[in-house]
Amino acid sequence: MSESDPSTVVTPQDLPRHIAIIMDGNGRWARRQGKPRVFGHRQGVKTLRHIVEACVSRHIANLTVYAFSSENWQRPAQEVNFLMDLFVSSLQQQIDDLHRNNIRVAFIGDHSAFPVKLNRLIDDASTLTAANDGLRVNVAANYGGRWDITHALRQLAARVKTGELQADAISETMVSEHLCLAGLPEPDLFIRTGGEQRISNYLLWQLAYTELYFTDCLWPDFDEQQLQLAIEWYRGRERRFGKISEQVNRADGT
Ligand code: FPP
Repeated sequence: MSESDPSTVVTPQDLPRHIAIIMDGNGRWARRQGKPRVFGHRQGVKTLRHIVEACVSRHIANLTVYAFSSENWQRPAQEVNFLMDLFVSSLQQQIDDLHRNNIRVAFIGDHSAFPVKLNRLIDDASTLTAANDGLRVNVAANYGGRWDITHALRQLAARVKTGELQADAISETMVSEHLCLAGLPEPDLFIRTGGEQRISNYLLWQLAYTELYFTDCLWPDFDEQQLQLAIEWYRGRERRFGKISEQVNRADGT
């Protein structure tokens, strides 16, 4: 058994405890209506709000969404600026309501390059909702899976340098414990809207055994019914975690 054996944790007929989403297709959705791309991002926030509510009503414990990747800085400055302003206005408008609904909002990624105002709101939202024990929404902003792993390794390397840790004592569990989502179950279900079938540097370590669901539906069109389809697809999967079918179907998993 590997040291972080995920098969001990969840069975496929269960609801996913953690859903990770790449919300793709905003720009195309807007373009198809002859509108500027940013119109799609605005609509995307509304979709996210609906999906948060749908997760709450299904008692999903964790939702992690990719709001801005470390590669998204390469977009035209006008779109990047719009997104920064959209994050600010969305947080200002929604945080009190999210808090009232016992939702914990956390942010993962390198926020050092964000505008001061956005960073202040990120800190305030995280602090305000820190004790909430309903749905936990993790917003990945200026996040990259390679950055996450590199950041974790740097912390471990610093401990090796001081002599506190032996290099050959570094374990998978230790690496996991230094990643942004440390302490949370790894995503059971990954959803990418917008038709592309790739991971795009999202949660590279944490998606090792995640069930991957791709849909052509563009993010602004994704709704509760689409989420339900993804969950039903997930519940029909056989999660073998490296074992064979007969083993995972035996009650004791041997
Ligand atoms: C990808 O669609 C979407 C993004 C890069 C931004 C997603 C952000 C939101 C939905 C807003 C979230 C807001 C908060 C407050 C968390 P795309 O632009 O790549 O679409 P395309 O593939 O059609 O071009």
